[in-house]
Amino acid sequence: QGEGYTLGEVVMSESILGTLSESIEEKKRKLAEKMEKQMLKRLQSSAYPMKELMAFYRCAQMEMETKFRVLDEQFSLTHDRNPIESISSRLKTLDHIYEKAKRKGIPLTVEAIENGIFDIAGVRVVCPFEKDIYMLRSSILSQDDITLVEERDYIKNPKESGYRSLHLILEIPIFLQKEKRMMKVEVQLRTMAMDQWASLEHRLMYKKDLPEDVREEMKKKLLECAALNRRLDEIMQDVKDTTDLYQEED
Ligand code: GTP
Ligand code: MG
Repeated sequence: QGEGYTLGEVVMSESILGTLSESIEEKKRKLAEKMEKQMLKRLQSSAYPMKELMAFYRCAQMEMETKFRVLDEQFSLTHDRNPIESISSRLKTLDHIYEKAKRKGIPLTVEAIENGIFDIAGVRVVCPFEKDIYMLRSSILSQDDITLVEERDYIKNPKESGYRSLHLILEIPIFLQKEKRMMKVEVQLRTMAMDQWASLEHRLMYKKDLPEDVREEMKKKLLECAALNRRLDEIMQDVKDTTDLYQEED
């Protein structure tokens, strides 16, 4: 018994160990926090280059928007209707860029961010009809200063959630004082029905305190809506195509 410990001593040492491991956890957490702060600092120390890059994306976004507006203008001249219902654009915030870089294991340098994240500038084009989307796709791709980097057709191949849209990553030049710079822009083309669906689904996704059973039920309903929307776009296109076959009254 001479070398044994009393119960009191065991309890005492366990609590010391406990405090020790807690303080190790605490140290680890603090270290992680410190590293994250350092990374952010590094990003901020490249504040000017990052600011410059964001300005370039803003320019690329404007150029891309203009291209679609021009197509819309010209089409309305020849067809007496607009193939674009609305255009909206957004630039990813630094926070979101940082978060996505971390998620994808991209180093926090301006160069790596530009080469690894393709949706910093985003342009969303909403059309009345599905055929408008493919008409705009082929028009924009036929322009000699546009390069297709990536295409995902979630209209032909909807996502499991029911999401539909045509996604293009396009490279577009911006002309600066002394140079031409190619920039990537994500373009999402959708019908009005697809757009309404996507914003509704997006709302659901961002509800944190939604009970799991309610969420599942809403997801099911959204799948139903997606199927109805598909049919809606199909019938509307059909009505339009058929109507187009007949002459207008004068
Ligand atoms: P991200 O890392 O989010 O950019 O995904 P990704 O690179 O795999 O691209 P993806 O084509 O899947 O999605 C890009 C964008 O499309 C998203 O940021 C959304 O704006 C939109 N999107 C894609 N899937 C869905 C969806 O299921 N629901 C909704 N509401 N939007 C979606
Ligand atoms: Mg993306």
